[in-house]
Amino acid sequence: MASEHAIGIDIGGTGIKGAVVDLGTGALVTERFKVRTPEGGRPRDILQATEGLLAGIAEEADGTRLPLGVCFPAVVKRGRTLSAANISEEWIGLPAEELFEQALGREIHFVNDADAAGVAELRYGAAVGVDGVVILTTLGTGIGSALINDGALVPNTELGHLELDGHDAERRAAYSAMERESLSWEQWAQRLQRYYTHLESLFTPDLFIVGGGVSKYSESFLPLLRLQTPIVPAVHRNNAGILGAASLASR
Ligand code: BGC
Repeated sequence: MASEHAIGIDIGGTGIKGAVVDLGTGALVTERFKVRTPEGGRPRDILQATEGLLAGIAEEADGTRLPLGVCFPAVVKRGRTLSAANISEEWIGLPAEELFEQALGREIHFVNDADAAGVAELRYGAAVGVDGVVILTTLGTGIGSALINDGALVPNTELGHLELDGHDAERRAAYSAMERESLSWEQWAQRLQRYYTHLESLFTPDLFIVGGGVSKYSESFLPLLRLQTPIVPAVHRNNAGILGAASLASR
């Protein structure tokens, strides 16, 4: 039987955050714990930081026996991390799930961060009951993607790395590009327009969902986009990864 609560941990290029989640409602039942992602993003350092974060969560919530899901900014296949865009290259080919299980002393479920966010929105958010093709993109340090068709996730789509105008799309259109280049909302929206128009031409989706920390400012940029496809902010914003990881761990 699925347990009612589970822990979700979302490892990102900038921060590692986690909480206990109520799997019935998708609500966080503890505060959100957060630490900075260690400089360089190397496996040993990230493992250590995650261990510390988990200890804090477990202390508050007696979470030692709860299912634990961890999501990560890389292609994850059968527990192995197969790419490294904004983290150390040491992750490529690493049996990450196994290493985390050994270090944390418990079973975990390891998954791509955007896929976790997609599952969260599918089960508790903007994609509930939506038929057809839904594309969730997270706009953060990089661009993550979750492709969902009639409620089924196609994992590891990595649409942030589509080549667009000779560039890796996330390099120009992620939220980090706006910060790095001090772009205005209008200037950044032009890049998003180019990016989402391209996604539309490839997938003819029924819905776009925009996640990542910047989704809380969606009013500043979503109305500037002219698309055929409805585009909405993620209901769970920056908590979607935590929620999806927890939800996947319980199944
Ligand atoms: C990574 C993806 C990840 C996304 C968001 C990209 O650079 O390649 O795996 O989902 O960033 O973190």
